[in-house]
Amino acid sequence: METVLVTGATGTVGSRVVDRLADRDVAVRAATRDPDRQFPDGIETVVFDFEKPETWGTAFEGVDSMFLVRPPAIARVGDSILPAIDAAVRVGVDRIVLLSVLGAEKNPLLPHRKIETHLRDSDVTWTFLRASFFMENLLEVHRREIVERGEIVVPAGDGETSFVAAEDVAAVATAALTESGHARRAYDVTGPDALTYHEVARSLSAALDRPVTYGEPSLVQFARHSRRIGRDWPFLVTMALLYTTARLGLAGRVSDDAERVLDRSPLSLDEWTAGNADAFERATPDPKANNLHGSE
Ligand SMILES: NC(=O)c1ccc[n+]([C@@H]2O[C@H](COP(=O)([O-])OP(=O)(O)OC[C@H]3O[C@@H](n4cnc5c(N)ncnc54)[C@H](OP(=O)(O)O)[C@@H]3O)[C@@H](O)[C@H]2O)c1
Repeated sequence: METVLVTGATGTVGSRVVDRLADRDVAVRAATRDPDRQFPDGIETVVFDFEKPETWGTAFEGVDSMFLVRPPAIARVGDSILPAIDAAVRVGVDRIVLLSVLGAEKNPLLPHRKIETHLRDSDVTWTFLRASFFMENLLEVHRREIVERGEIVVPAGDGETSFVAAEDVAAVATAALTESGHARRAYDVTGPDALTYHEVARSLSAALDRPVTYGEPSLVQFARHSRRIGRDWPFLVTMALLYTTARLGLAGRVSDDAERVLDRSPLSLDEWTAGNADAFERATPDPKANNLHGSE
């Protein structure tokens, strides 16, 4: 039986990949830095840290395929992720599916692009999943302002974003990790629609049955709000950069790659908001209030 190593296994996409792989005919090894972390029965847990090479050997041993997530906090991939890839390939990992980001091919400064280039130059079968903005950001990053103020505060102007559900990114990843036909392919993994944040607010209002608004805040208003709720400067700047890509109209490309791989339509935002309405109730705590793409 093939062994699949999932990095980022406790994260938004990796956790869903672990769940999906559990139903496939593969041995699943879930990587985390937390030695006390438990995964469901049948999932092997391994302590793994890109920044601690002493953890790599045990994690990579006997692995055939790897789901590779660049942790948001790692900006300098040359010191950690690239050498980890080399170590994995040296011990026989022969398929790597990378969670990349939409537009990575056009931006040489992105850490994801550096990883893509390294994988292309390595002796490994690669697949790149260039994912658009996750719908889960609304829950994991913006939940507080939506719940407490009925407002989405992002400096995205009226630019469009082709939001994708993390569940669909995980489904494409699972296919690429376990099926043939995905070698040396770069997929743009987007949802079915390009939406402005006005449309996102309308979708949330309908699903939550209470008004959610979007007032096109300026960068300065966004920065003030972010400081008020305790976001640190590096995170604030990262978010400002990301939302500026949407403001400039660079985040709205819709692709049918996910639909072709999955043989079904990816989730629409209306379906996602309807399915996640309970998580926007007041009592539910923020799962991950200070994390997005990290320091890219
Ligand atoms: N958010 C978006 O809209 C979006 C869109 C496209 C692409 N992306 C990209 O997706 C990636 C993040 O994926 P995600 O949101 O699924 O992850 P996430 O929820 O941010 O979780 C980060 C994961 O990285 C692990 N991790 C942190 N530091 C680590 C280290 N030093 N060594 C090994 N593992 C470490 C964490 O595991 P432990 O804490 O358990 O060790 C955790 O599982 C980023 O590269 C981001 O740019 C994000």
